[in-house]
Amino acid sequence: MKVIALNGSPHRNGNTAYALNVVGKILQNEGIDFEIVEIGGHPVRGCIACNQCAENENGKCAFTNDILNDTLLKMKEADGIIIASPVYYSGIAGTMKCFLDRAFYVASANGGWFRHKVGASVVAVRRTGGSLTFNALNQYLSISEMLVPTSNYWNVIHGLEPGDAAQDAEGVQIMQVLGKNMAWMLKMREQTKGIEPKADEKVFTNFIR
Ligand SMILES: Cc1cc2nc3c(=O)[nH]c(=O)nc-3n(C[C@H](O)[C@H](O)[C@H](O)COP(=O)(O)O)c2cc1C
Repeated sequence: MKVIALNGSPHRNGNTAYALNVVGKILQNEGIDFEIVEIGGHPVRGCIACNQCAENENGKCAFTNDILNDTLLKMKEADGIIIASPVYYSGIAGTMKCFLDRAFYVASANGGWFRHKVGASVVAVRRTGGSLTFNALNQYLSISEMLVPTSNYWNVIHGLEPGDAAQDAEGVQIMQVLGKNMAWMLKMREQTKGIEPKADEKVFTNFIR
């Protein structure tokens, strides 16, 4: 089994990465492969609603000159996905938001790639906006019918400068508990393959007709 973790921070060794590595170590101890993919340090443009991904049904975003399509394939193959972001102005860091809008739109428009994968959100913050950002990240998971493991608090770690998060003992424990629950959910999912509910035909209304 494999978990792909997306680091939405431009800092490879920042607080978001620290939190991901705490979760990852627990997963690896449970025999689960773990890989961090750097998102925040790359130029990633936003979705322009061209709908080419739905029209072409080729599993690709029409923008082919950034990291999105390659990363999307890794996400498609993974059993679990962690989406992680630092808090910028009480929300998801801009580059990560651009990435997530496009990645989840392509996956949804091409048959629901993430349905029943295990998915978790992780946030790093100096002071305020942690829960808002955690909730915003969780929207991508819940609209995709993903299985979302929880922890003993919301998945937020505190710090300003890279490395500060190591001093947030409660935040570190939250990530450890998340790792344990995620590993357990991945194993449960493996053992119950074949009895999962089939996908429903989507009802789509826009409140006007
Ligand atoms: C553009 C920008 C906006 C930020 N906005 C907030 C904010 O709204 N609330 C907050 O508490 N911290 C804010 N921060 C601080 C970061 O969330 C914090 O330093 C975080 O630990 C960075 O994670 P990283 O080391 O993984 O990059 C902001 C930082 C930047 C660069």
